[in-house]
Amino acid sequence: MVSPNPSLFFTLLLLSVAVASSSSSQPNATNIGQGYRLISVEEAPDGGLIGLLQVNKKTKIYGPDIPLLRFYAKHETDNRLRVQITDATKPRWEVPYNLLPREQPPPLTQSIGRKSIKNPITVSEYSGSELLLSYTSNPFTFAVKRKSNGETLFDTNSLFSSLVFKDQYLEISTKLPKDASLYGLGENTQPHGIKLYPSDPYTLYTTDISAINLNADLYGSHPVYMDLRNNGDSASAHAVLLLNSNGMDVFYKGTSLTYKVIGGVFDFYFFSGPSPLNVVDQYTSFIGRPAPMPYWAFGFHQCRWGYHNLSVVEDVVENYKKAQIPLDVIWNDDDHMDGHKDFTLNPVNYPRPKLLNFLDRIHKIGMKYIVIIDPGIAVNSSYGVYQRGLANDVFIKYEGEPFLAQVWPGAVNFPDFLNPKTVSWWGDEVRRFHELVPVDGLWIDMNEASNFCSGKCKIPKGKICPSGTGPGWICCLDCKNITKTRWDDPPYKINASGTQVPIGYKTIATSAVHYNGVLEYDAHSLYGFSQSIATHKALQGLQGKRPFILSRSTYVGSGKYAAHWTGDNQGTWENLRYSISTMLNFGIFGVPMVGSDICGFYPQPTEELCNRWIEVGAFYPFSRDHANYYSPRQELYQWESVAQSARNALGIRYKLLPYLYTLSYEAHVSGAPIARPLFFSFPTYTECYGLSTQFLLGSSLMISPVLEQGKIQVKALFPPGSWYSLLDWTSTISSKNGVYVTLDAPLHVVNVHLYQNAILPMQRGGMISKEARTTPFTLIVAFPAGATQGEAKGNLYLDEDEQPEMQLGNGYSTYVDFQATVKQGAVKVWSEVQEGKFALDKGFTIEAISVLGLDGSGVISEVEIDGKPLMSVTNATVSTSQHVHLDGENNGESKIIMVGLTGLNIPVGRNFAMTWKMG
Ligand SMILES: *[C@@H]1O[C@H](CO)[C@@H](O)[C@H](O)[C@H]1NC(C)=O
Ligand SMILES: *[C@@H]1O[C@H](CO)[C@@H](O)[C@H](O)[C@H]1NC(C)=O
Ligand SMILES: *[C@@H]1O[C@H](CO)[C@@H](O)[C@H](O)[C@H]1NC(C)=O
Ligand SMILES: *[C@@H]1O[C@H](CO)[C@@H](O)[C@H](O)[C@H]1NC(C)=O
Ligand SMILES: *[C@@H]1O[C@H](CO)[C@@H](O)[C@H](O)[C@H]1NC(C)=O
Ligand SMILES: *[C@@H]1O[C@H](CO)[C@@H](O)[C@H](O)[C@H]1NC(C)=O
Repeated sequence: MVSPNPSLFFTLLLLSVAVASSSSSQPNATNIGQGYRLISVEEAPDGGLIGLLQVNKKTKIYGPDIPLLRFYAKHETDNRLRVQITDATKPRWEVPYNLLPREQPPPLTQSIGRKSIKNPITVSEYSGSELLLSYTSNPFTFAVKRKSNGETLFDTNSLFSSLVFKDQYLEISTKLPKDASLYGLGENTQPHGIKLYPSDPYTLYTTDISAINLNADLYGSHPVYMDLRNNGDSASAHAVLLLNSNGMDVFYKGTSLTYKVIGGVFDFYFFSGPSPLNVVDQYTSFIGRPAPMPYWAFGFHQCRWGYHNLSVVEDVVENYKKAQIPLDVIWNDDDHMDGHKDFTLNPVNYPRPKLLNFLDRIHKIGMKYIVIIDPGIAVNSSYGVYQRGLANDVFIKYEGEPFLAQVWPGAVNFPDFLNPKTVSWWGDEVRRFHELVPVDGLWIDMNEASNFCSGKCKIPKGKICPSGTGPGWICCLDCKNITKTRWDDPPYKINASGTQVPIGYKTIATSAVHYNGVLEYDAHSLYGFSQSIATHKALQGLQGKRPFILSRSTYVGSGKYAAHWTGDNQGTWENLRYSISTMLNFGIFGVPMVGSDICGFYPQPTEELCNRWIEVGAFYPFSRDHANYYSPRQELYQWESVAQSARNALGIRYKLLPYLYTLSYEAHVSGAPIARPLFFSFPTYTECYGLSTQFLLGSSLMISPVLEQGKIQVKALFPPGSWYSLLDWTSTISSKNGVYVTLDAPLHVVNVHLYQNAILPMQRGGMISKEARTTPFTLIVAFPAGATQGEAKGNLYLDEDEQPEMQLGNGYSTYVDFQATVKQGAVKVWSEVQEGKFALDKGFTIEAISVLGLDGSGVISEVEIDGKPLMSVTNATVSTSQHVHLDGENNGESKIIMVGLTGLNIPVGRNFAMTWKMG
């Protein structure tokens, strides 16, 4: 939404004093570029600000400077400011407005330059929201400040770099205060944890190199960072998005950040926060809210490359059942395909009648089935998908012919999802396939796009490329590197694949052409994103259900369509640790449905590691075990010890499904990540700013897993307040200022704690989400330990989860606020049902309420529900117990009271109020 009336303030201050003092702080001219000066500025018809910039002195490095630039700024909402800089005379590549819908800046043809600037030494301001833009004229620099506290968030008045704008090289820098903590800029495996680490390289360009490559440009591109600053008693966060799809290197040096981009425009969006949750809310309201997920997607998923035939798959499902480990979704990598061709079935190993029979059986019990689809379409004249693709002219072109590459099926062409005809053709292929096999979701892999060859290739005469496994990934086409155009060999080399390989290496040649003449050079990093959109459209139109799509490659806005897994990781302890940072980053990127391959993709994990991995993975929003063709089998039942840990950890997950699902609703309406860094709940507590070994689900549930070999204890950070262990509710840790506590963590135990002031809805769990979700609820109410005054809140969202929309007001959803207070021994727990029909129709009930943290002698009286004595209306049992309360500061122990009410039978969909007095 756009703010009602962003008023335009325009102050041109003559700052003669600033001249002398600022000369030393002005950007030093470099041999790459000498900056621009503002030659005119005026108010745009849309309320924005438009100016013209002229290059100061031309330089030749990385190509000629673009002489005239247009500078455009607009307060688009109360908390979002856009600053765009582009060529003033002709349009340049921008992320297509149909892929990422947003306001169009005024057309370039609009006349500008009437109010020319006479005195070049000016500092001017443009305000109209919480963010304030100021700029200097010569050299042109701009800064963004937070109005409420005057903090400078972004300032291009940098000491060492000027604004550079060439056709294939754009550079700009911002100063940063030393104590700013930055997060984001991915996809990147970050060995130093979630907080950006000064001098680590951040290159953004979608690439299929495995996630084990540290600090390299992985599968997705998200040129956005969140900046969190502590100001003593308060903290404020904001985010900066550079909406640009070209390859870029971002250099973070601790006190500065420099973007070096090889095309497109500078299109900055500033989101003012000030809380981390505000930031993701503002960010996802701009890029698109995370997709609604079906309930079953929060169940456990099993996948593997190398399920040779259907019997193996059936056997896996059977073994999960035998081992009493929950399982919702079974997956196929490309083993079900005929010759690794998309949308086909192998007639020998996956005969259709048998597969349909199998799907019928698993669908009846609520299980789901998902298969992989790669974008590369096999070049094979007897293959219908390819024939129809050719007939519809859907492929990316090189020199007028479909660009030839090689992936699993051998030689392939790549569909061009920027072409509307391709989107319809793809929709039709998905529809045909769904008639063949009623899959419940699609997994789109290899969409960076990955290519086993590079350059211009031919199918070698008389040679058939091996398809699939084995050495199938070694290029067997006849290829020549392409270096002849500036798109293949741009003047500035981003650090592609972490080794500065040419940007067309093992992907589509960057001089290849999409629909409407768009160059792969510009659109490269949008490939997976555009495929997600097309696939989402196909599934939604087809099933009339909420689609489930898992995509490896992502871009800004992908979360609106797809979930993500972190790609090909390794079965090592380091990779287990890295998975947490990458997952938390994707929450910030607006892709909250994320997880890593549990136990690692390759090579085989040790038994101990797999135990510890399921104890983390059970709390990934997207929880899937997946392994490589060449790895030994690693389903959770393969080791008895892992099965035991899985039953424990997934047992907790399946009891928490209503909480996870409610979080996914919050993600969908407000962008709040499901899995979050601790600073989301404790933004002023600097001790947790870099913490990457623990995380939160929602605002109140903290996971503190073991991430090191041989350890049966874990040292965990507990931010200020009271924390209750989910293992037994009886041990409490609390502190005034935060404390590290060493927790016992035997092999089968993962520590999970609930924070004070929360009400957690849980259910009994089960072997499959469809059953688990019908079991009665228990509310866990957590007050601050021993408090005589306190309150707690929680909520619950439920719905008919296969409906396309996830929203209230449709008659198939339920939303309840739970609240509780304690005041001088009087306890009240109640609900406010905003919408109850769905829960009432389904007969969902609350069977128990446990209240933690109370003070008193342990005797309670006057228990009433809705004003009547409890015992007169239910067969409830009331119990109290004392438990140990460890004060983190002085290691003092005290007793606090837990009150348990069981045998209740309260409809979830109707308001209730329960009260009693503590003795
Ligand atoms: C900029 O140039 C001035 C004058 O040559 C020099 O003193 C200063 O150190 C330079 N600053 C940086 C950051 O290079
Ligand atoms: C399925 O594959 C497994 C493992 O390769 C093999 O042992 C089994 O005989 C196959 N079953 C069928 C029905 O083909
Ligand atoms: C084309 O597909 C058919 C059917 O799957 C297969 O038998 C044939 O080997 C494929 N041809 C090539 C050149 O891969
Ligand atoms: C093509 O380029 C790649 C990447 O730079 C390089 O490794 C390879 O040797 C080149 N091949 C030829 C034939 O020049
Ligand atoms: C490119 O990335 C790799 C991997 O992080 C790093 O080691 C290397 O220093 C980077 N090179 C440049 C030129 O930035
Ligand atoms: C109490 O228990 C009895 C016997 O099990 C049962 O018939 C009755 O419905 C219960 N009452 C309530 C209010 O749940």
